[in-house]
Amino acid sequence: LAEAVGLAEAIALDVVGAEVVPLRQIRPATLFGSGRVKAIGERIEAAGVELVVVDSALAAIQQRNLERAWKCKVIDRTGLILEIFGARAQTSEGRLQVELAALTYQRSRLVRSWTHLERQRGGFGFLGGPGESQIELDRRRIDERIWRLQRQLESVKRTRGLHRAARRRVPYPVIALVGYTNAGKSTLFNRLTGARVDAKDQLFATLDPTMRLLALPGGLRTILSDTVGFVADLPTDLVAAFRATLEEVETADLLLHVRDMANPDRAAQNEDVQRVLAELGIDASLEDGRLLEFWNKADLLGPAPRAELATLTERLPNAVLGSAASGEGLDALLALIERRLAERGQVVEIALDPADGAGLAWLYRHGTVLERAEQDGRTHLKVALEPAHAAQFARRFGSLPDAARIPENSPNGC
Ligand code: GTP
Repeated sequence: LAEAVGLAEAIALDVVGAEVVPLRQIRPATLFGSGRVKAIGERIEAAGVELVVVDSALAAIQQRNLERAWKCKVIDRTGLILEIFGARAQTSEGRLQVELAALTYQRSRLVRSWTHLERQRGGFGFLGGPGESQIELDRRRIDERIWRLQRQLESVKRTRGLHRAARRRVPYPVIALVGYTNAGKSTLFNRLTGARVDAKDQLFATLDPTMRLLALPGGLRTILSDTVGFVADLPTDLVAAFRATLEEVETADLLLHVRDMANPDRAAQNEDVQRVLAELGIDASLEDGRLLEFWNKADLLGPAPRAELATLTERLPNAVLGSAASGEGLDALLALIERRLAERGQVVEIALDPADGAGLAWLYRHGTVLERAEQDGRTHLKVALEPAHAAQFARRFGSLPDAARIPENSPNGC
């Protein structure tokens, strides 16, 4: 219940009451029994409630009947999640995906007109709109809108593909932030990239606003990507609809799971995130080395639980305790990211003949040049390469003597 309240608050609803309603029997018409409907209705009227969120699935008919009985809007869990995603989706693709999912959901119920077709508000229209319930929706209008959205999505995806291709030409590793809604992803994103973002780097001006350049302390450049927050019990059809939005997560080099350690539900939240990641085909085990955890909001913990978690993270190779708000733990987090990326790729040193312009160009195009010095008539370079490019490097420049490879870290990392 606390989780459902948290979700409602996440879209700025003012929650005046929340309760668990035990059901002995499910009524097809109203979900709840008639006595219960009446009792809740009286409280709704007394408190002047405008919206009721039923934290489970409602059939269209149940939703309509409850709205009639209670004389207010009623939405179910899917509706609430769609509202949240609608309010949070930042990319054009994300917004289109949410709208498509919302339309498909709405089409299956066709209960009332949907004023958001005019896009008057920021959200997705379940929560308001004058006279909505009076007008019947035209199924054909929705179908046309769905068809147009699908076309728009295809075009957005093409542009996105071009962006990704452009980014892959400069092989910066991608780190995707994942985590439960309200865990602090955006705060961390801004904190990490805010001070470090290179305003001169025009390459990123055209990219998604949720992606920014993050230069690690050792010089390695990466792309940090923020994502829509996860929620519990994400309906399976929504998972499918959000696959494209989470595409960045699937292809990311590292996943950084931001956890709100001050939340009493953190264990359940963790399980939810792990499950969604598993559904996306991602190995979410902490041992994998691709998934790191930032245990956020340490500043909100009392001394005892804080010390306990600190001891725990010391034993976990891929978790860091800290606070995105205060900045605590961020140095350790960046160092961990650096170590894990170095394990995935490799850093090579090479000396080139100054006449080898093509070789130099290749290294700049495919790697991140960490150091460059002219010495003894040769150009000495230290370059970070992704695994695929390291193989190409070996083919192009001949395999390297062992001494030329710099092991950034022991294979086990910790
Ligand atoms: P979604 O966009 O819903 O996915 O949320 P998010 O994970 O991006 O969370 P966001 O960064 O918006 O933070 C949620 C709330 O937690 C905000 O009010 C932040 O100010 C607060 N917050 C984030 N990090 C910390 C922290 O380390 N300590 C404290 N005290 N508050 C934090």
